[in-house]
Amino acid sequence: MNYRHAFHAGNFADLVKHGAVTLIIDRLVTLPEPLLVVDTHAGAGLYDLGGEMALKSGEAEAGVLRLMADNAAPDAFRPLKAAVLNANRDGVIRVYPGSPVLIADRLRRDDEYIGAELRPDDFDILGKAMASSRGHARAVNNDGFSLLTLRAWPREDAIALPRMSKSSGRSSAPMYSSSRRRRSAISTGEPG
Ligand SMILES: C[S@@+](CC[C@H](N)C(=O)[O-])C[C@H]1O[C@@H](n2cnc3c(N)ncnc32)[C@H](O)[C@@H]1O
Repeated sequence: MNYRHAFHAGNFADLVKHGAVTLIIDRLVTLPEPLLVVDTHAGAGLYDLGGEMALKSGEAEAGVLRLMADNAAPDAFRPLKAAVLNANRDGVIRVYPGSPVLIADRLRRDDEYIGAELRPDDFDILGKAMASSRGHARAVNNDGFSLLTLRAWPREDAIALPRMSKSSGRSSAPMYSSSRRRRSAISTGEPG
């Protein structure tokens, strides 16, 4: 697998996806029941925007760096902008938080986050990023689809946002849904 998300971290697609993820999680944590989030394609969790890969593509410059400089950005991006600032306390945007950090930082004490990442190099970075979460987040170096299908999740109570297949536009992972929402599982997946 050649794909490294570090080339694309903080690009426009990440902003749309992560803007939505922050809003969804912020809504789900207002519900009284504990939340379970399964991120089948977690990535590295934290991306160095000054690193070779990010600089080579330049995608963050047209994405998150532009968003952070835009005081008239839509309100929907406010939680994401706050999370980016939280990862860059001195206000200079050097790193971009991926879905594991964005989600884990929003969870309550009884909630749980599990992120699956197949690449050993990105898994190492992810493990370090998760170590600073407040103990309710963990990373596994495993196939996210197997994790989603093999474990006995409370499926009747889960929501999974599957990865879409490029060619057919059809879902390539099972979608679970429920109106009961006692516990919820979300896969943030690949952009397609
Ligand atoms: C688009 S990136 C992840 C982005 C991340 N979800 C985010 O929003 O910040 C997809 C990641 O999934 C990993 N990956 C690909 N297939 C996988 C699989 N079957 N199980 C777990 N990880 C996988 C890739 O190595 C890559 O790091």
